[in-house]
Amino acid sequence: MQPSPIDLTNDSIQKVIELGKLLFFDTRISGSNRISCATCHDPALHWADGKEVSLGHEQLPNIRNAPSLENVWIYNSFFWDGRAKTLVQQAEGPISAHNEMNQDLKALAKKLSRIKGYKPYFTAAFGSSVITNRRVFESLATFQQTIVSGQTSFDKFLSGDKDALTDQQLLGLHLFRTKARCMNCHYGAYFTDKEFHNIGLTEYGNKNEDLGLYNFTKKPEDVGKFKTPGLRNVMQTGPWFHQGSVKSMDSLMVLYNMGMPEHIVKLGQENDPLLPKNDKLVRGIMLTIRERKALIAFLEALSSPSILVRVEKLPN
Ligand code: HEC
Ligand code: HEC
Repeated sequence: MQPSPIDLTNDSIQKVIELGKLLFFDTRISGSNRISCATCHDPALHWADGKEVSLGHEQLPNIRNAPSLENVWIYNSFFWDGRAKTLVQQAEGPISAHNEMNQDLKALAKKLSRIKGYKPYFTAAFGSSVITNRRVFESLATFQQTIVSGQTSFDKFLSGDKDALTDQQLLGLHLFRTKARCMNCHYGAYFTDKEFHNIGLTEYGNKNEDLGLYNFTKKPEDVGKFKTPGLRNVMQTGPWFHQGSVKSMDSLMVLYNMGMPEHIVKLGQENDPLLPKNDKLVRGIMLTIRERKALIAFLEALSSPSILVRVEKLPN
């Protein structure tokens, strides 16, 4: 694993991280004062929420599953559909969304300015006690770049401990790289190409339809593409996929094994330019049950204990 680009030895960056951490755990950046970023990105749950789709303001459901924030610094774009280009830009989304934190952004800075205890933190981080949305987003973004996974059995194996993986996990690793074709998209230290693919989960024409990347690029070739998530601690962050629709890893493997669901063209859809087309890199892989179990055992080897991060006391 590579270290996060954040320089933890730099004193002034430390101050920004400290402020970002407080804001991340502070429910007062939500309209109802009841929801913080950690409500849906809980460190004890590897910075996800374990729910199918997240519940936000007044328990309103989100349309998507909350991704883990571990190693989030590695991505070039954020959200399942990559619509935010930076973490600073991303932070604005959840704070203002009506079904997440429902906070009027025009009132945010004023609201935080009334909490006297925050002033010294803003001064330490930015050189003056002025609170602006930009400073809030920047410190949240900096803090999130410190959220990383811990060491796994797979890492121990890579650094030379040949006994760190079981025989079953070794078979799983082999399959992951070869017959199962997972490495085509899930590669590198974090098991992601950071790209977008349609793997057949658009629900095209159904009530849960989600066209992913297309929603914001409006390019027909982007229909149904979602960001390839990294796989560290993936066994701990189910249910899986962008709608949290798959609740067991056995079922997920069955889907990949059959080449993922293909959209069945209905009458009248033949010439529809938006018809979702699965990525050519996913196709039936014909694994036996024993091989699928080995793949899952390999994913287990990508687990590390959750690192408990807490805030003892918020500013008043
Ligand atoms: C109500 C639950 C909820 C709250 C509160 C929430 N998030 Fe999220 N978060 C989500 C969901 C759901 C997604 C995926 C949304 C999407 O892709 O459209 C997400 C996505 C993200 C991502 C993108 C990760 C990636 O891999 O692309 C980041 C970063 C993030 N949230 C940070 C935050 C921060 C910072 C806060 C607080 C300001 C916050 N979230 C508050 C549910 C929540
Ligand atoms: C064509 C590229 C591609 C290939 C090949 C591929 N994946 Fe994926 N994988 C993705 C994308 C994209 C997603 C997110 C899809 C979504 O939610 O809409 C994903 C999601 C996942 C998830 C769920 C992660 C989460 O946090 O919800 C797991 C687990 C997974 N893949 C494992 C595998 C395994 C195991 C293989 C090999 C059998 C494999 N993938 C092959 C692109 C790929």
